Amino acid sequence: MRINKYLAECGLSSRRKCEAYVTEGRVKIGGKLVTSLSTEVHDGDFVTVDGERVKPIKKHVYIMLNKPKGYVCTASDDLGRKTVMDLIKDRPERLFPIGRLDYDTEGLLILTTDGDLSNRLTHPRNEIPKTYSVRIEGGVSEEDLDTLRGGIVLDGVKTKKCRIKVTEATSEATKLEVTITEGRNRQVRRMFEHINKHVAFLKRVAIGELKLHGLNRGEYRELNESEVNYLKNV
Ligand code: URA
Repeated sequence: MRINKYLAECGLSSRRKCEAYVTEGRVKIGGKLVTSLSTEVHDGDFVTVDGERVKPIKKHVYIMLNKPKGYVCTASDDLGRKTVMDLIKDRPERLFPIGRLDYDTEGLLILTTDGDLSNRLTHPRNEIPKTYSVRIEGGVSEEDLDTLRGGIVLDGVKTKKCRIKVTEATSEATKLEVTITEGRNRQVRRMFEHINKHVAFLKRVAIGELKLHGLNRGEYRELNESEVNYLKNV
């Protein structure tokens, strides 16, 4: 099996991201440094990453976390901020988050050891819907919302059509439910910036039909078999 697939099966990260472990010179087979992505791993090979032995995981683990704001979605942070890994410290597996939520965004985050599922859910081609609960300051016109629904240009590329529903409106704020099928950097916040609206609250509430409920901020639970099967086929 190719080295990047092998590392993904060890639960290090997605196949794509595991390529970096190889090219950065962190991987050895039988004590010998390997840097070529075409390297094959054979039964019985002794593979190490940063000097630690890694072995394919027999059974993957899938976790739903209610991420609070004030946490980053990386394993470590240069600025010393808290990371989502701090919230799952009691887990023995090497879990990694599927996709990212901003530091200030809360809500549904899946963490797993399954690199293939991670690839599937984050690949733009698969257009997995992600639903967010959004609160903006003040009101918003249907015309502006239609502009966002139809797609706006961010970084020179038009956003895909999306669904936006107003769920509550007062004179001070508007609550909306927004479903996008992409995962571009700070996408929801930047969409609203485009119509001069500041997102004061942002929470991911669903990935496809998988909804976040029953977890307080910072709590997690394992996904059940039917939820995992759903995500594998969504
Ligand atoms: N859109 C954003 O702006 N931030 C997130 O964290 C997720 C979607």
